Amino acid sequence: MGSLPDVLWKGGLKRQHETLAQYHRRFGKIFRMKLGAFDSVHIAAPCLLEALYRRESACPQRLEIKPWKAYRDYRDEGYGLLILEGKDWQRVRSAFQKKLMKPGEVAKLDTTINEVLEDFMHRIDEICDHNGQMEDVYSEFNKWSFESICLVLYGKRFGLLQQDVEEESLNFIKAVKTMMATFGMMMVTPVELHKGLNTKVWQAHTKAWDDIFKTAKHSIDCRLQKHSAKPQEDFLCDIYSGGHLSRKELYAAIAELQIAGVETVKLISKGFKTPPIPSLAADRRGGDDSQQLAVGSVQPFPQSTRPAEAFPGNPESFGPQKSPSAESLRDMPYLKACLKESMRLSPSVPFTTRTIDTEMVLGNYVLPKGTVLMLNSHALGCSEEYFRGWAEFRPERWLQRGSIHPFSHVPFGIGKRMCVGRRVAELQLHLALCWLLRKYRVVATDQEPVQTLHSGTLIPGRALPIAFHPRAGSCTAPAGFSWAFVQMGV
Ligand code: HEM
Repeated sequence: MGSLPDVLWKGGLKRQHETLAQYHRRFGKIFRMKLGAFDSVHIAAPCLLEALYRRESACPQRLEIKPWKAYRDYRDEGYGLLILEGKDWQRVRSAFQKKLMKPGEVAKLDTTINEVLEDFMHRIDEICDHNGQMEDVYSEFNKWSFESICLVLYGKRFGLLQQDVEEESLNFIKAVKTMMATFGMMMVTPVELHKGLNTKVWQAHTKAWDDIFKTAKHSIDCRLQKHSAKPQEDFLCDIYSGGHLSRKELYAAIAELQIAGVETVKLISKGFKTPPIPSLAADRRGGDDSQQLAVGSVQPFPQSTRPAEAFPGNPESFGPQKSPSAESLRDMPYLKACLKESMRLSPSVPFTTRTIDTEMVLGNYVLPKGTVLMLNSHALGCSEEYFRGWAEFRPERWLQRGSIHPFSHVPFGIGKRMCVGRRVAELQLHLALCWLLRKYRVVATDQEPVQTLHSGTLIPGRALPIAFHPRAGSCTAPAGFSWAFVQMGV
């Protein structure tokens, strides 16, 4: 049984991120844990992550997602980056990496991302009541991130931000939810058993993937056909025209990019809007109600830590009617620091894994080949040793150069297998903050903390208590709006 009874007693798998952070405080930077039959070694220290990074092989491996592989083998579909291994992973990764990890290439997506954000602002206006509250903030942000990543990947609008959503789009979003909700059970019980007995979980999982692949294939085919004359001009066609991927691999890779993109980006949006822990709720130094966003991005900078050099550039050069661009984000260090601080306290992916392919010495322990490592970024983020006053939301800590060890903040993972969508995700979130903050003061509607629950990724444990109050005189882009608001977080 190992630690299973204790983990269950402390709130179960849904609270495992908190339990694991407690274990790290108690047992230190590295410990071994058995959870039933699952044996793993947990690490949460910058020096150990750096050591692992320096010794990583050409094709690092994560823990297998067996239910996904079972479906692909069953239907003869390809594997994407989340489940590929070895040379095949390397080849597909390198095809995507060229586009997705190059800042210059990703910057070209700002217009696409802004198109969806503009609609999202109208949507917020439409659905908020006179107090600026909407029924389900989390689900609305989910729709935004779905619409946004789909436009990037499929070049197609799914209309999720409209009043009446088409059935095809609803089915697609439902299929992604069902697929995510059903694979966890088959991670902890043998998937072969589910498949052999044709259990309800297996049936639902299979049907969900069928629906995902059907829509993904159709959308990708349309996009490739549309740009067949000049493939270099389109992000996806350019990757495919490189000739390193089969059509089957492209379908699988895009479907997985979409799932990784939707399930993470909305959660960070959540992280930005509400304090996940009690002490954050108390971090309200400013007095102005816009502080209640509780993300610090709207908290006044304490005078003592307000260096003018934190805000280079000329904010007034952006007209009030203009959309923020990837270029303009360069001059917004405080906004970027807010995102980092939010991800430190509430990372959407609290830990990632590695299965080591050779014996390794880590933290004075000899780890045999095949050991599963859990790299815990959540535990790092709430460690007093690496972040003094860790429970306070203090974006300015990121503005002091060299004060934070680079391996103490790893929300996107590390090394060659690091999140390939990192730059796209950051662009989406930075731009979303620009749009939101220039149009609204985002205020808290109650003072209670919002706990996070682990469900593959971290999700809020209750309805998000926030409201959107239009800034005085604001229309789509408020007259007199100053980019300094976004830059300086006021
Ligand atoms: C804030 C948003 C996001 C967070 C926090 C996040 C986090 C992560 C983490 C922790 C990993 C595992 C890395 C490792 O094992 O070292 C990962 C992998 C991955 N992510 Fe993200 N992600 C985000 C957004 C996205 C987006 C928008 C996309 C797609 C455009 C994406 C696509 C992927 C893929 C395909 C992988 C697997 C990469 C590989 O194994 O080669 N992610 N992500």
